[in-house]
Amino acid sequence: MISIRDVRKSFKAKLVVDGIDLDVGQGGIVSILGPSGSGKSTFLRCLNRLETPDAGSIDMGGDRYDLPRLDRRRLQSLRMRIGMVFQNYNLFRHRTAIENILEGLLVVKRLKRAEAQDIAEGYLALMGLSDQAAQYPSSLSGGQQQRVAIARTLAMQPELILFDEPTSALDPEHTGEVLEAIRKAAGQGIPMIIVTHEMGFAREISSHVLFIDGGKVIEQGDPKTLFGAPEQQRTRDFLKNYLRSYSFDI
Ligand SMILES: Nc1ncnc2c1ncn2[C@@H]1O[C@H](COP(=O)(O)OP(=O)(O)O)[C@@H](O)[C@H]1O
Ligand SMILES: [Mg+2]
Repeated sequence: MISIRDVRKSFKAKLVVDGIDLDVGQGGIVSILGPSGSGKSTFLRCLNRLETPDAGSIDMGGDRYDLPRLDRRRLQSLRMRIGMVFQNYNLFRHRTAIENILEGLLVVKRLKRAEAQDIAEGYLALMGLSDQAAQYPSSLSGGQQQRVAIARTLAMQPELILFDEPTSALDPEHTGEVLEAIRKAAGQGIPMIIVTHEMGFAREISSHVLFIDGGKVIEQGDPKTLFGAPEQQRTRDFLKNYLRSYSFDI
């Protein structure tokens, strides 16, 4: 079980994440919905300490990280255990697809080259990219780049994967292949937290859904209830708005 407690973050006087709690069970997939600017990215970034929160902890199998106060060793340990997939892929531009995956295995995990190569090839294959191993990011489509990024994250075998709007930067014709890649990643059994505007996908894949506004959890529950019969007016308004603009998708 992964238990996240009371994550808080302000930028100057502006409170952006206002005490978020969340539990993610083994193999659990939590989707986070919410309007733009509601603190979703900041929340995720606090969890793997790309931002330093003002308060908050994450307990991973009984090992508790006090997020604002991690020394170098604990920070490294946290980052080994939590992987992240970004909207803009964040691949190394000057490295090929397979080199992007090898980097963490060789430098962070210090595996032997042959073992790292096997692992990297395995995850490229899982993502359907074996024939793109030697390509640089600039010659791959956005969908392919995001699949390399997912392969890179899976290869590190983290205990939790954070996805921050993984399909938002893609052309619509590449969204489906990345959603399929996330389904495959989910099949690996690693718990995930996914910030997404793909409502149909969130409804199908999630074990639990949070609706966040103003840095707070407004409502949470199983996807059937949250999408089908939300209790809070703000959740209803958000979903209604969404349905109006994207009715083909849900
Ligand atoms: N580094 C930062 N400095 C100052 N304000 C920030 C910073 N990052 C995010 N914010 C502000 O925090 C709020 C929440 O941002 P964000 O977490 O990116 O929201 P979301 O991902 O839900 O769209 C926004 O008002 C944004 O402008
Ligand atoms: Mg965001």
